[in-house]
Amino acid sequence: MIIAIDGPAGAGKSTIARSLAKRLGFIYLDTGAIYRALTLKALRKGIDMHDEDRLIQMCRETDLAIDNKEDGSIRVFLDGEDVSELIRSPRITKYVSVLARISGVRAEMLKLQRNIGSSSNSVIDGRDIGTVVFPNADRKFYLDAEFCERVRRRFNELKSAGGTISLEEVEADLRNRDRIDSTRKCAPLRKADDAVYIDTTNMSIEEVLESVLNKIGTINNSRISEAEKIKP
Ligand code: DC
Repeated sequence: MIIAIDGPAGAGKSTIARSLAKRLGFIYLDTGAIYRALTLKALRKGIDMHDEDRLIQMCRETDLAIDNKEDGSIRVFLDGEDVSELIRSPRITKYVSVLARISGVRAEMLKLQRNIGSSSNSVIDGRDIGTVVFPNADRKFYLDAEFCERVRRRFNELKSAGGTISLEEVEADLRNRDRIDSTRKCAPLRKADDAVYIDTTNMSIEEVLESVLNKIGTINNSRISEAEKIKP
């Protein structure tokens, strides 16, 4: 079974996807981590973020792996190196949308995401999971929240991780990424027609998780066989 969770940055996708995967015993695939790891490699190699040919070639020569840990966390390996912390830096966050808008890069990453996602029961979060990567996902959710709330959450998250970024910087980054992610030509951020929309602005993590679990249990989806149904 594949559960797709899409939405903009700061809407709560990764927190919910991780908790949901842990609760259901599914693997969690954070597709943003894939684009972040590629961005790290491109910056290290000094590749111009607009040099599409070199970036696509770099993707072809890159080995990416994601390891799910018992506690629900994930580790991301770039050519064998654990880059899980490095890919969360503000510098990567600043450039990742620029790399992710390149259609050739996305095409290279499609197979990897499909291979990992379909290898087991999975919860997958990103921007185009329900629309492009897994258009036939068994369950689709689109998590959203008001812009100010998303900024506030991202700021608090970075602050508690020891970051020194200002609220204004977080706001500018989110605004920029929202714009690039939703206006790019290839696989832009948008809600799949058959995705359940949840506005998480005034909801706690537990409330969102409950809502998602309830919907997973109640949506009548004929594509799901008895054997695939989630065990309580
Ligand atoms: O979820 P995140 O903030 O880690 O994602 C980082 C960026 O990666 C995001 O701004 C756009 C890109 N991304 C994407 O284009 N498609 C995905 N499926 C996941 C992320």
